[in-house]
Amino acid sequence: MERVVVVQPKRSVVDLPVYQPGMSVADVKRVYGLDHVIKLASNENPYGSSAKAKQAMISALEELNLYPDGAAIDLTTAVANHYKVQPNQVIFGAGSDDIILMLCRAYLVSGDETIMADQTFPQYKHNAEIEGAVCVEVPLKDGTHDLEAMLAAVTDKTKIVWICNPNNPTGTIVSHKEIVSFMERIPSHILVVLDEAYCEYVTDSEYPDVFALLPTYKNLITLRTFSKIYGLASLRIGYGIGDAEVIHTINQVREPFNTTRLSQAAAVAAIQDQDFVQTCKLKNAEGIAYLQSQFKRLNLESFPAHGNFMMFDVKMPAKDMFELLLHEGYITRAGHKLYPNYLRVTVGTKEENEGLIVAIERILEKTRVTS
Ligand SMILES: Cc1ncc(COP(=O)(O)O)c(C=O)c1O
Repeated sequence: MERVVVVQPKRSVVDLPVYQPGMSVADVKRVYGLDHVIKLASNENPYGSSAKAKQAMISALEELNLYPDGAAIDLTTAVANHYKVQPNQVIFGAGSDDIILMLCRAYLVSGDETIMADQTFPQYKHNAEIEGAVCVEVPLKDGTHDLEAMLAAVTDKTKIVWICNPNNPTGTIVSHKEIVSFMERIPSHILVVLDEAYCEYVTDSEYPDVFALLPTYKNLITLRTFSKIYGLASLRIGYGIGDAEVIHTINQVREPFNTTRLSQAAAVAAIQDQDFVQTCKLKNAEGIAYLQSQFKRLNLESFPAHGNFMMFDVKMPAKDMFELLLHEGYITRAGHKLYPNYLRVTVGTKEENEGLIVAIERILEKTRVTS
């Protein structure tokens, strides 16, 4: 008789949902019969990536047969030089997603507590739960991290606090002063992760200067990525900068070849091409100013936006607006559990932003007529 043995995963994984990616441009073209579709769903760079990064990657193709440098020495040097930190303060991952995973793997065990906002980047919770940690989700206040409440949530079981700045999905920031006040009061055995995936886009002078804080607070780490302003999302390369001891700990759980030869080569060239970064920053700021003015004109409330995306109230279930925008050829992001009427859109090029506003206005007009 055939014996059916069901292999049981670990308890924390049993009910874990599988990540559902949004529809791709190709999917939307096929399903909706459209020739032209614009994706404003994943906060990618609409201006592509630096030509120098592409060239560096093409050169690296000559060595496809070789394993990458596991320690990413050239890239470590380039990033350390750029930020004026020591090489042993820098670690790379297959996207900053990988650093989040490694942090949880290295620091969290079953029963530990980890604090995060109740509407923030989901990978903190996902990875912490896999390790069996308890996620303490602190409500955002006006869409912004409530650092006082996060501090009040600390117990003797707290191990990591996550601060997403700018916060995904709301786009809000906490200031340098607020972070200093927070770091002064949080016990030094608790790791504070400042996820700054969108920092290069920020124009607000109150935004934290993390490099001024790292020498004082050994329990602080910043996470950054080449996926956003550098436009290298497909290469999967991100990094963390913090105290050498914390970086050493993360290195202990890192896979030997977790970033590729191609991504390392492209990232070295990308960080040395700050003209590209500045151009994208400027165009993004213009895009935000335009979208803000249009949302105001349409009476749609929006959160202050500091990254390359905006979250705004569409005055109907956001999933309905999402669906209607798909018909118009725009892929956006809905499904934020605490903001069911808010849509998140990536800031596109001037033409894309203008087209999006035309589509939203048309939809609002139609729904007004039919309701
Ligand atoms: C706040 C935040 N952190 C981290 C990431 C992960 O980026 P990556 O793994 O591409 O570096 C994202 C991606 O959207 C993000 O929004």
